[in-house]
Parts: sequence; C-alpha cells; structure tokens
Amino acid sequence: MVNVQPLLYATLFILPLVIVKAILISIKKRPKLPPGPVSLPVIGHLHLLGPSLHQTFQTLSSTYGPLMYLRIGSVGCAVASNPDLAKELLKTHELTFSARKHTAAIDHLTYSSSFAFAPYGPYWKFIKKISTSELLGSRTLSQFLPVRTKELHHFIMLLSDKAKAGETLNVTEELLKLTNNIISQMMMSMRCSGTGTQADGIRTLVRQVTEIFGEFNVSDIIWFCKNLDLQGFRKRFEDIHRRYDALLESIIGDREEARKKKRKGEDEVKDFLDMMLDVLEDHHSDMHLTRNHVKALILDFLTAATDTTAIVVEWSLAELMNHTEVLRKAQKEIDQVVGKERLVEESDGARLPYLQAIIKETFRLHPPIPMISRKSIQDCKISGYTIPAQSLLFVNIWAMGRDPKVWDEPLKFQPERFLKPNDCIDVKGLHYQLLPFGTGRRGCPGISLAMQEVPTTLAAMIQCFDWKLPGGAAVVDMAERPGLTAPRAQDLHCVPVARFTPTLTA
Ligand code: HEM
Repeated sequence: MVNVQPLLYATLFILPLVIVKAILISIKKRPKLPPGPVSLPVIGHLHLLGPSLHQTFQTLSSTYGPLMYLRIGSVGCAVASNPDLAKELLKTHELTFSARKHTAAIDHLTYSSSFAFAPYGPYWKFIKKISTSELLGSRTLSQFLPVRTKELHHFIMLLSDKAKAGETLNVTEELLKLTNNIISQMMMSMRCSGTGTQADGIRTLVRQVTEIFGEFNVSDIIWFCKNLDLQGFRKRFEDIHRRYDALLESIIGDREEARKKKRKGEDEVKDFLDMMLDVLEDHHSDMHLTRNHVKALILDFLTAATDTTAIVVEWSLAELMNHTEVLRKAQKEIDQVVGKERLVEESDGARLPYLQAIIKETFRLHPPIPMISRKSIQDCKISGYTIPAQSLLFVNIWAMGRDPKVWDEPLKFQPERFLKPNDCIDVKGLHYQLLPFGTGRRGCPGISLAMQEVPTTLAAMIQCFDWKLPGGAAVVDMAERPGLTAPRAQDLHCVPVARFTPTLTA
C-alpha cells in the first residue's frame, strides 16, 4: 500500500504557504495607486461625494494629498490639485491623458460624433484644424466682429431701458442670451435667444445638455446597473436628444435649400454650418463627415461657448459689486482710456490692464469649468504611483486657485496680484497655477473668442452703469451651483444705474 501521509502533510502545510506567497507576490506586483480613503465594495467612494465634486475633492485632498485615487463605482479616478502635478500630467504625459470620459448620455446626445469628447485621433485632429484655422481663427473672428458689436449694443440698449425705468434685470439670463446669440450666429447665422421663434428652444436645450453631462448616472458607474434606468436618466437624455435633433434637422434642411438656390461664387461670410456642409458635400475631403457629425459639432460648440463665457462675466460683475473700490478703479481706467464719447470696443482691451487683471482674478477664484477632465489611454507612473489606463483624471483648478501654498491670501479678491512688476501670468495654458482654459492640444480652442467677448462685455457694463441690488441689499451672495460648470447658485438680479449713455444703433 502506498504511504500517502507525507503527501497529505505536504498538502496541508506547503500548499497554504504557496498560496500566501502567491498572494504576497501579486500584491507586490499590483500597481501602487496614489493614496485615497478606504473604498467600499461595489460603490467605491461614491458615498463620500457631495453635490459639488470639485469642493469634495478639495476637502479630501487636504487629508490625502495633492494626488489621490478614488473609485466612483467601478470607475477609477485620479485627482490632482497642485500646479506641479498639473504640469506633469497635462504636459509631460500629455498624450497619455488626451482622451475624455464617455457616458451613455454623452454618447447618445452627441451622436457618438462629438469633437470635445472624441479620442485623440484623426477625427479630432481634422475638426481641431478646421476649428482653429476657420471657425475660431483670427480671420473668422474679425469677420464676425460686426456681429459681436451689434449684439453688445443690443444688450447695452436693453440695460439702458431698464436703467431708465429703474427696473430690476435678470443679469444671468441676459448674459446667456448675449453669449448664445453670438455663438449661434457664428455657427448658423441665426439668433437663438430672445427671438420668440423656434430657434429660441436651442438655448434651453443647451442648458439641459450641460446639466445632464455634469450629473452622475448610476448605470455608467455601477456595472451591474448598466442596463437599468433607475434615475429615469436615459428617458431624460433621449427626450432632450429628440427635441434637439428635430430642431437641427429643420435648420440644416432650410440651409440646404438655401444653398441650392444660391448662385455659385456669391460673396458672403461663411458660418460654421456652411463650412461643415462644404466638407460633407466634398467627396474628395480627407474626412468623410455625415449629417450626425454636423449636428454633434453644432451642439459641441454651442454648449462649450454659451455658459462658460456668460458665467465668467457674471462672476466678475458680482465680485465688483462686492468690491466697490476695485469697481471704481476699473471705471476710472476705462474713462481715461476710452473717454466719455463712445462705448468701449474690443480693440481697447490691450490698453485696459486693470480690467484684464480683474478677469484673471475672477478666473482664479471662479473658473467656469472647475476641473480639467481627461481620461488615460495607458498606465502612467507619477511620483512613484501608477495611474492605470482608462482612469479618469480630474485636475482641480478650482482648488488650485484657492490654495494658500500657491497664492497669497487666496480667498481675497485682489486683481493687483496680477499687476506686480515682472508678473506675466496669463490664462493661455502655460502657467499651471491658472488654467481656466485648460492646456496643451486639448486646451480650449475658443480662448481667443472668449478673451475678446469677456473683457469687452464687462467693460461696457461698468462703463455705462453702476450696479445695485434690488431692495437695498448690500452684498451679492457668492454661492455656487453644482454641475459640470460652476455658475452662481442663484440668478443675479440687479438694477443698472446709468453713468454714461452712448449713442448706439441696434
Ligand atoms: C470663458 C470661456 C471659456 C472657458 C473658461 C472655457 C474652458 C474650457 C476648458 C477648461 C476646456 C477643457 C480644456 C482641457 O481639457 O485642457 C475647454 C474645452 C473646449 N472648449 Fe472652451 N472655454 C470657454 C469658451 C469656449 C468657447 C467660446 C468655445 C467655442 C467657440 C469653446 C470651445 C471648446 C471646445 C470645442 C472644447 C473641447 C476641446 C477638445 O476637447 O479638444 N470654449 N474649454
């Protein structure tokens, strides 16, 4: 008979040792993730997240440091909150973090053809080239200057009427109409706000899209809920999509008809829709575009340009109302440079350094997009840690703007900090402590347009008016509303008081 005892002992004593060793080796081999709180099964750190993600991340990073790793359901997220890490992740490892997140809402609403959410590849490069050289290039921006000027005049005349009547104005609403009308005319040669026509619906849709993109959908983050619609999320985004699609189909259809009737060679300023239809009809183009691409791109640009631009002007005005000494200094600068004969113009911007400093200070404290969001396409080693492929990356620029290690007295609104001799911090993406437009290849292509619109609008608002709160309230509430963008929580209602009335024609 075979003696099995040694075999039994070996199995009993050696096998557990082998298993423990294998586990230890696998733990050792497992990538070392950046620090973070203990995560729960299935939901990960979902229970720790408050309504405002950038504020939650700021609080967590005060315990776990400037580089953290969290799990939101089954999605791994790296969070960086200092300028050195921002530089390392977004510059040194730029290509690793050149993708963006995808959710069911994003894919559906953007026809899976978005530029802003496209992976870094041929389609993205093609649209980037058209948008920087054509739609948002300096030639097109100059061609559309009369449109921007006319819209600004229209806006100032509305404010003058309110001032004359001593009425309160919803500044938030009117700024959104202004920025939306500017971008919708560049895109489709039509005003989409305050017209009382079917196009008016677009602004509401754009708002709803921005909101839904910023919300968490359980089906996206908990794998076994993938096919469930527990929050009615799918129903909501399908409804938005249906309405947007119907509107855009009718706009594109009208344009196609108009193009057929138009004689060849007729001279006119081309809008983005024309540029896209040219590519769509050109069978020799490097990239084959479909109608869905065109609809997705219009949505991309309308959503990217409307809220962001309006939000920063509104925050600037709110800060000025709470800091009247800064407001007076800015008004004095405008009066000296522009005078009392005419309304400020875009070309005055370079000669208004104090106003530019106010804009930078507003971007520092209130970046309209509080976090730069990217996704990694491969593993990446940072400060001895590994950020695995397919992780989301959040660079918390909101927290960096409020960090006392980066800025003196960060919570004070002091535009003078940008006017120190030898100070050259700007917002173009090269100074990693101030990145309101992001940085690198995936940085914002609308920066030139925004940096024409924002200073001119704010300057005109304070050149022509002083601003009072209704009911004699003394301080503007500065609470933020959670979401993908960070606007003020409540709409800003103010009474404009005329200080200079320019002669304008709408
Ligand atoms: C104050 C106004 C604006 C702010 C603060 C802003 C901010 C940003 C930020 C932070 C990003 C992400 C950058 C990154 O990942 O590095 C971005 C991307 C983008 N922005 Fe803007 N933006 C503004 C205005 C505009 C305007 C006026 C347009 C278009 C007309 C625009 C079009 C876009 C597009 C298409 C992207 C996606 C680019 C890509 O993924 O490659 N933005 N913007």
